[in-house]
Amino acid sequence: MRLLVIGKFGTEVSQACKIATDKGAKIINAENIEQGLQKLLSGDGVEAVLIDVEQDIARFVIETMREHITTPIIAYGINADSKKAALSIKAGAQEYLPLPPEEELIAAILESISDEKLEMISSSEVMKKVVELAEKVSPSDASVLITGESGTGKEVMARYIHSKSNRKNEKFVSVNCAAIPENLLESELFGHEKGAFTGALNRRIGKFEESSNGTLLLDEISEMDLRLQAKLLRALQEKEIDRVGGSTPVKVNLRILATSNRDLKKEVKEGRFREDLYFRLNVIQLQLPPLRERRDDIKAFAAYFSGKFAEQNSLAKPKIADDAMRALEAYEWQGNVRELENTMHRAVLLSNKGVIDKNCLMLEGIENSNENTNGSELKTLVGRTVSDVEKELILNTLGSVSGNRSKAATILGISLRTLHNKLKEYEASQQVA
Ligand SMILES: Nc1ncnc2c1ncn2[C@@H]1O[C@H](COP(=O)(O)OP(=O)(O)OP(=O)(O)O)[C@@H](O)[C@H]1O
Ligand SMILES: [Mg+2]
Repeated sequence: MRLLVIGKFGTEVSQACKIATDKGAKIINAENIEQGLQKLLSGDGVEAVLIDVEQDIARFVIETMREHITTPIIAYGINADSKKAALSIKAGAQEYLPLPPEEELIAAILESISDEKLEMISSSEVMKKVVELAEKVSPSDASVLITGESGTGKEVMARYIHSKSNRKNEKFVSVNCAAIPENLLESELFGHEKGAFTGALNRRIGKFEESSNGTLLLDEISEMDLRLQAKLLRALQEKEIDRVGGSTPVKVNLRILATSNRDLKKEVKEGRFREDLYFRLNVIQLQLPPLRERRDDIKAFAAYFSGKFAEQNSLAKPKIADDAMRALEAYEWQGNVRELENTMHRAVLLSNKGVIDKNCLMLEGIENSNENTNGSELKTLVGRTVSDVEKELILNTLGSVSGNRSKAATILGISLRTLHNKLKEYEASQQVA
């Protein structure tokens, strides 16, 4: 993960960067917003921007928007007050990071924007076959279409293919076609020339050029509109791209991987996806089966995730009790591997004396012996406001994990940032009352 830090490099910022670097991030520094903008335009692969609240964040946000840049912007403040934090969010920053840094918070922010996952678990026969096929096609430059339900591991597979390819020492660049607004996606992919549209005051290098010699993942490609599909097809056929507003094509040399959780053939039939592009991308198709069709993987995943989350929380790896394992293996897993991952994360935090039993899993439809939300308790909730009940739930959860905010946030299924904000809100309302 590459982070661009805009502002003076004082002690607190260095501390924060050290934590981020230890967690695998690369830091690029810019002294002011002009320099920062140039770095973003140059195709340096910046994945998030950290900017000092003392900088003119509003102007920076406007300038990145003008250039159709969608990189997330996080403001930081050194011993700053909550007013400044609020102002930075109002100016367009997505998050606010108080410094001196809290390691936990930096880890959470990095995790929310990070994409460096590379463990490929496969223990079932079906999955082993898919991985085998992936390894076979990795060294070639053929496009690969990776399909499967949400949470089956399509992105993990894309990274795995890159890591096994001849391009493994080059960049892996991923563009989520569903997350970027339609009108900004073209510039994100192909870049633009100065003056290409109102607001394009500079040349911008897009992801195609950024990933040249490497691999470009077009994530959720079914969400790309038809006009852009035509441009993409041309780029794949000619191995050259036109920057928006550009008059000379630029040669690119890259390998394309694409994912979709929709049935692209059906999209073609219904006129939402170009058939010629489908054939171009679908040279090889890797279909990831849903987790419920490869139950032999569940045990390996449960062991892997419980180890991973125990380590993250500085706990010894818990033992998974037999009844818990049986429940895991029998469950439907509509959310696939991602759901199992979240379940194991919660289970590690709820584990008791180093053991994960069935109660720690909190699986829907599976009875917990300490279940306490029975009918009469639900009735007592009637008449209370949602925010009131929410407050009680948040405070009780926090109490049950001895005030550990990251544990509480995980159990509640909200971000650490949301939890911080809620607690601030409660504090403020108490001061008023
Ligand atoms: N084979 C695997 N080995 C290790 N971790 C995996 C594997 N498959 C999935 N995961 C984990 O499960 C989660 C979901 O995987 P991923 O993001 O690749 O799914 P996806 O198919 O791209 O989902 P979506 O369609 O929602 O984007 C990730 O946190 C990933 O690390
Ligand atoms: Mg994905």
